[in-house]
Amino acid sequence: MPATAVQPTHDVVVLGGGSGGYACALRAAELGLSVALVEKDLLGGTCLHRGCIPTKALLHAAEVADAARDAERFGVRATLEGVDLPAVTRYREGVVARLHRGLQGLVRARAVDYVEGAGRLEGPTCVVVGERRLVGRHVVLATGSRARTLPGLDLGDRVVTSDGALRLREVPGRVVVLGGGVIGVEFASLLRSFGAEVTVVEALPRLVATEDASSSAALERAFRRRGITVRTGARFASASEDERAVTVRLEDGTELETDLLLVAVGRAPVTDDLGYEEAGVTLERGFVVTDDHGRTGVEGLWAVGDIVPGPQLAHRGFAQGIAVAERVAGLSPAPVADALLPRVTYSDPEVASVGLTEEQARAEHGEAVETSKYSLGGNGRSQILGTQGFVKLVRVAHGPVVGVHMVGARMGEQVGEAQLVVGWEAHPEDVTPFLHAHPTQNEALGEAHLALAGKPLHAHN
Ligand code: NAI
Repeated sequence: MPATAVQPTHDVVVLGGGSGGYACALRAAELGLSVALVEKDLLGGTCLHRGCIPTKALLHAAEVADAARDAERFGVRATLEGVDLPAVTRYREGVVARLHRGLQGLVRARAVDYVEGAGRLEGPTCVVVGERRLVGRHVVLATGSRARTLPGLDLGDRVVTSDGALRLREVPGRVVVLGGGVIGVEFASLLRSFGAEVTVVEALPRLVATEDASSSAALERAFRRRGITVRTGARFASASEDERAVTVRLEDGTELETDLLLVAVGRAPVTDDLGYEEAGVTLERGFVVTDDHGRTGVEGLWAVGDIVPGPQLAHRGFAQGIAVAERVAGLSPAPVADALLPRVTYSDPEVASVGLTEEQARAEHGEAVETSKYSLGGNGRSQILGTQGFVKLVRVAHGPVVGVHMVGARMGEQVGEAQLVVGWEAHPEDVTPFLHAHPTQNEALGEAHLALAGKPLHAHN
């Protein structure tokens, strides 16, 4: 593809203002580059407006509802009168609006040329937005992802993806969640807390199937205790609607009648009709193929975030965006390693992990793999909170910890230390000299390493 003769208007033009795109724009501006950031909807993208932030606000409201419902267990007299979804929505929107304003302020403060409108690539260096032609020395593609649906499913008021679930005005009586991945499990959890009868339908043999099998099993047990029906190994066949309800048919012939069908079967990259292939970009099943540094193979054209094959996580997008900005500015950042990404599912209980599952570790290291599981039953803070779960460590025998898997309320907050342990290839003996404050849930991580180093405190050998 010949380089355009047109003079660059900016050092960097970023197409898409979500996590990957805005992180790239902010870092590039910080490094002294002139930057245009193109966004057709709202700065902040899926994560801020339709994903991570609003759903975690809903999950927090769900936790508050559960606390009120279970207050008596702690000797506090309270009754849950109900969940006022429009009021929950106002709280959620308030959180999003504050973060949105903050982000807009950052973009202004770093003098990023923020261009509102739908952009399209015209050749490898030019993004056209309405009347404007933005020509970058470098162009970064960051157009993100959208909810997938299945053939034969017509989205509407009662058949929704996570986008539609955020528009609900009242809590449905019955919900079928199609897909037991991260989104399905988080919505199942919060809708149950809000009082709905919830059934999760998952084609694979277990929920959150990319997690360690023990985490899936613990989540499934906890969900059943919470009255959530879990149907694993169950494939969706079809759905139909009448004025009364939605009927979901599974491949085994089961029919489930429901008030809401929430479809959470994955997210597809947004790369169609944007001029990517014409510019020479290789697409694979719609994803933009890049090297470890985000290079598309076309000179000056980069890609970050959910359009790049791999885990579709906001923190991966941030890191990739920052790394591309630094590389464009002539620095040499380390590639973003998907294998070391911390993962958190914010259901009740939470599931958090980093590194290899036991199964992956055995596939990689054979029999020389040891595991140890520390029950939160021995952790004071978890007992105070009334949560159950564990910290499981996966280690190469006499070697480093290669995986940490945690289940329990709030355990997602512990993934930071877990990431350092795995990322720094620490042996349990490297971790044990560090003290963990008592009584914290963080202590469970310390105790798990003590146990694996052969000197358990509140655990059995
Ligand atoms: P997912 O890929 O995690 O899960 C989709 C599930 O649907 C899979 O388990 C799949 O087996 C199942 N499925 C697909 N077709 C089916 C069928 N016909 N019948 C029954 N089950 C079927 O996708 P999900 O949950 O939609 O999330 C999308 C992305 O968003 C993920 O990559 C996730 O990492 C990200 N995300 C991350 C969050 C977090 O980190 N807390 C929160 C929300 C989303």
